Order: sequence, then C-alpha cells, then structure tokens
Amino acid sequence: MRRMNISRHDLVHRPRRLRSSDAIRSLVRETRLGVDDLIYPLFVVEGEGVREEISSLPGNYHLSIDRLLDEVEEVASLGIKGVILFGIPDQSQKDEKGSAAWAEDGIVQKACHSIKEEYPQLLVITDVCLCQYTIHGHCGVLEEGCLINDPTLDRLANVALTHAQAGADMVAPSDMMDGRVRAIRNRLDKACFKEVGIISYSAKYASGFYGPFREAAHSAPQEGDRSSYQMDPANSNEALREMELDVEEGADVIMIKPALSYLDIIRRAKDNFNLPIAAYNVSGEFSMVKAAAQKGWIDERRVALESLTSMKRAGADIIITYWAKDVVKWIKG
Ligand code: PBG
Repeated sequence: MRRMNISRHDLVHRPRRLRSSDAIRSLVRETRLGVDDLIYPLFVVEGEGVREEISSLPGNYHLSIDRLLDEVEEVASLGIKGVILFGIPDQSQKDEKGSAAWAEDGIVQKACHSIKEEYPQLLVITDVCLCQYTIHGHCGVLEEGCLINDPTLDRLANVALTHAQAGADMVAPSDMMDGRVRAIRNRLDKACFKEVGIISYSAKYASGFYGPFREAAHSAPQEGDRSSYQMDPANSNEALREMELDVEEGADVIMIKPALSYLDIIRRAKDNFNLPIAAYNVSGEFSMVKAAAQKGWIDERRVALESLTSMKRAGADIIITYWAKDVVKWIKG
C-alpha cells in the first residue's frame, strides 16, 4: 500500500481557516438560538400579591395572578412568543381525583383568562396533568397503587377542555397515558375547539432531572414513582413508537423531555417526523448549572447558551426553558 506522504507544510484542508475570526465564525455558524425558539414556563398560585422565588429554580417565581400579569408583561416585552402555565393549587384544593385540575375557576383556567384578556397575541400553552392536583401526586386515576389508564383519559380530556374554554391556544399533556392525545383531540373537536393545538409530551422519560420541578409544583408522588407510565431512559426505539402514536392521534407538535440527556432522541424525532419538535430543558438541567455557577465552578451564561444551542443543533424547533428571559437579554446584549 502506498503511504500518503503529506507533510504538515502540504496541508490542503485547514478547517481552522473558518474559525480564524469572529466575522468568519459568525458567517459559517450553522445553528442560531433566537427569541423565536423560546417558551417560558410560569408557575401560578392562588392568592394575591404573591411573588415568591422558587428556591430550587433561582430567578423563577410562584406568582399569584396579579403578579403573573407583571411577569407576562416582561416576557412579552422581551419578544418571547409563548408561555407554558403550571398551576399549583392550594393543598386544601387537592383531592383523590385531582378535580381542581378541571374546575372552571381552577388556577390555570383563571390565569389563562387573565393573560388572554390583556395579551391576546401571546401564545398560552397549558400543561395538562393531574399530579399537582391529586393527594397521591400521581398523574391519573390510582387504584390499589396502580395508575389506571383509560379512566384517566376522560379526566385529562376534561382538563384540556376547560383550559381551551379559558382561552388556551395549545394544550400540552404531560401524563404519558396511552391514547390521551386522541381523547383530548376528540373532546376539543366535539366542543368546537378545533383550532386549539396539542403539543404532546410524546417521549417523556422517568427522569431524575425533574427533581427541582417537583419542589416547585408540589407534585412528587406520595408513594412509588412514575416508571409505569414515563419512559425508561435506556430506550430510544420506544420513543419513536410513542411519537408515531401521538402523530397518528393528532398531535401538532411532539416534545421530548428532558432535553440535554436525550439529544439523540431529539435528532431521531427530527429525522423521522415532519412536525415541529419541541424540547423541554427541564428543571434539573437548569438548576445544576445554577448551583455550579453559584459556586463559581461554571460560567452560567456560557453553559446555558451552549446547552440550548445543542438542543437546537440536535433538531429542536421550540425550546421550553427557565432561561428564556435571560437568553433574550444575553443574545441582545
Ligand atoms: C407534570 C410535569 C412534570 C414536569 C412537567 N410537567 C413533572 C413530572 O413529570 O414529574 C417537569 C418539568 C421540569 O422538571 O422542569 N407531570
């Protein structure tokens, strides 16, 4: 075999040429993170005048509706196009069924009304789940410690319907029951909410990265875990199957969650479906960077932008992130 005998002086290909200045780097950059990619999560609580920082999610707050509107004002003025709402009912409103989740005057329903009244242009997405509303903290109907699929569907469809009635533009079921996209689509269509979209948490893994969220939403299961409905982190083909079913059932956007440890799943989703792909940069992904930054071990801005850019590079069209407001400030300034 003839040996290629190229000395280092003969190099023809020098990829470093395209990295030699800010100008050229910016011209050849393949992925750009922009304000149009972002959705900001908001946590709504009962009461008035409440704006309490969530200790596990620094810079994010529990907000009563009056203060929520101030926050939404800021979000909208930054140019962020959408928010996703999580309701946190009072402990006294929780019951075995999670009925506060579909109450007409439930916390999310009230929040939707108020936001849409003042900010009709802002896209309001609601998280559809029961875990914040049930005493047991599971995402559906629990019988003898088992989460029962089909009776849960009716409840989830009720939740989605009341959110739509309150003005939600899109609903995002995060429970991982089988058949919930179809159940929700049918219920919305029957009630003439054909224009309300579904962002489905299609591939939602049973992840340790939700830890800080559960503190924020008071939604940890009292007993057991969510492994019988959320996905095994070891699986990838199963995620495609879940997405396929959700697309068939009528999802408008498919979501992968968490994002950072599942970039391969985001890429497979992008390559396999002609639907917008959303990625949820979840609480643990955010909080671990915050904590390390507080210790001076990591540069928050740099690592946050790197993480979010990676999600986009992997194929995400939409990113839900607790950094949304910061990102806009960072990329502007
Ligand atoms: C509700 C829900 C969870 C998250 C979003 N919706 C928690 C869970 O499934 O336990 C997690 C979001 C985050 O960690 O940022 N089912």
